[in-house]
Amino acid sequence: MKLTWLGHAAFLLENGDAQVLIDPFLSGNPAASAQADQFSPQTILLTHAHNDHVGDTVAIAKRAGSKVIATFELGTWIGTQGVEDAVGANHGGTVAFNGGTVKFVPAWHTSSYEHNGQFVAPGLPAGLVVKMGDKTIYFAGDTALFLDMQLIGEEGLDVAVLPIGDHFTMGPDDALRAVKLLHPKVVIPCHYDTFAAIEQDEEAFKQQVERQTDATCTVLKPGESIEI
Ligand code: NI
Ligand code: MN
Repeated sequence: MKLTWLGHAAFLLENGDAQVLIDPFLSGNPAASAQADQFSPQTILLTHAHNDHVGDTVAIAKRAGSKVIATFELGTWIGTQGVEDAVGANHGGTVAFNGGTVKFVPAWHTSSYEHNGQFVAPGLPAGLVVKMGDKTIYFAGDTALFLDMQLIGEEGLDVAVLPIGDHFTMGPDDALRAVKLLHPKVVIPCHYDTFAAIEQDEEAFKQQVERQTDATCTVLKPGESIEI
């Protein structure tokens, strides 16, 4: 299975013919490594409604017929935007898609989509525990550190994708504490360096993770992939 960072919190998961986009913010993303019209995934998974995560979801799903899976209010709102296969789930729930499953887990953040100066699609943010093939990947979404990450770690994580940008999410110090709760085999940092407010030293984070935990930290550049 291949995991590609597309910049910010956008990722592409590929396993055989199954393609899954996560939080596909590409148009208007200064760190994006690709354009929205390059992708026709069967599935799009969303952590929350903020514009830097929903991104190009509606345009891609309408063109490619993708199934969009999100938390309830966001999934319902996406369904009102002309996306035919929009699924609203919620924390604790597992939803199947072509090639795998996603379980929605808590995240400490907010969630709403800004449209013409109005906040729409309110609801709660989530993290995603994705199972594809025989691998388990945790996308934390935007979140603060929280102790229940211990429970998520009990799923047995091959990969944990964690924000380290600070300001809107946990920064490197709390992300390091998260690794100690999650016990993943591999950590991939994201949600940093996209904007001035979230600039971070990802190599220093990698060094601390590998010094203080058993995990390997893989720092990707936008457009780079890791085989899982
Ligand atoms: Ni957010
Ligand atoms: Mn964000």
